Amino acid sequence: MRVAVVGATGAVGQLLLKTLERRGFAASEIVPFASERSAGKELPGYGVIQPLTDETVQGFDIALFSAGGSTSKAWAEKFVAGGATVVDNSSAWRKDERVPLVVSEVNPEAIALATSAEGRGIVSNPNCTTMVIMLPLKALHDRFGLVSMVATSYQAAGGAGQSGIDELAQQVPVVGADVEQLVHEGAAAAGKVTPSTFVKTLAYNVVPMLGTVGEKGYTDEELKMRDESRKILGIPELTVSPTCVRVPVMVGHSIEVRATFENEVTRDEAIAVLDAFPNLTVQDVPTPLEAAGLDETFVGRVREDLSDPKSLNLFVVGDNLLKGAALNTVQLAELVASARV
Ligand code: A2P
Repeated sequence: MRVAVVGATGAVGQLLLKTLERRGFAASEIVPFASERSAGKELPGYGVIQPLTDETVQGFDIALFSAGGSTSKAWAEKFVAGGATVVDNSSAWRKDERVPLVVSEVNPEAIALATSAEGRGIVSNPNCTTMVIMLPLKALHDRFGLVSMVATSYQAAGGAGQSGIDELAQQVPVVGADVEQLVHEGAAAAGKVTPSTFVKTLAYNVVPMLGTVGEKGYTDEELKMRDESRKILGIPELTVSPTCVRVPVMVGHSIEVRATFENEVTRDEAIAVLDAFPNLTVQDVPTPLEAAGLDETFVGRVREDLSDPKSLNLFVVGDNLLKGAALNTVQLAELVASARV
């Protein structure tokens, strides 16, 4: 099994390599790819980083992509033509009807489309924010019938890749140096750094704008929560009110969800189905810092709605780089690998 990792130097790419190893993925060879900036350099343990060319993309069984949408658009089909099945972590193919969008515990059967006559040889990995809520929502949907949700995210800097992690790390000591200023002159504190990955200073702050503004003022990140949830859960008419917010957390996305069902729901019944779902852990107070570096998704603050017996509030937390990206990508690669043999 020859495996390509495209974007191997990135925040997710690095974790892809580690996760393949940690889970004992049966690869005979793992070949790292990155941009022209990195090609030719040695990646310790994996040899020389390859550039993407018509020659280098030939002869793989599986190619894992985490190098942004434009790289996936340009190169995924070339890997497929060269013999590979592609598992893509970008948004490039997620809405394509010929490309399944898969969470391994939620809709693994959908993966068959990728290699069928109608498929493109590509499987998409969901957006990291959507991914975090899929496990609890699938558990609840199967029991109570999900109709609609209001979802507000608290997204980590790491969701924007290595540049997001670096930007927050650089800002924290500078913006936080003067506590008096933070308390009384916030704008001056924010002005001590120049944001680039984020639209405003993120350190000691909350930034309610994430992505590119589109339909009715919602950002593409927010619309992904609607469109991807519908596709993964198989509920085309699901009503979603999404708001995405960046918070000064390194890794670990959190989402508060108010979910409304066809049937009445009680806290005890909800906790029973959440508890029984694979790789989902019920906690009183889940936090992103404590979830960073862990494979599971955590759910807590489960509360019956104050006025609607068919609605439930819950707070969900997961590592956006692991289950939100690298772990699910490797889980999908495992499903692809077992289908190929
Ligand atoms: P490079 O390190 O050479 O820039 P992150 O999500 O952490 O920002 O990482 C993005 C990953 O995608 C990196 O491995 C980066 O490589 C890679 N990448 C970015 N642009 C391209 C491109 N045009 N072709 C191939 N790889 C790319």
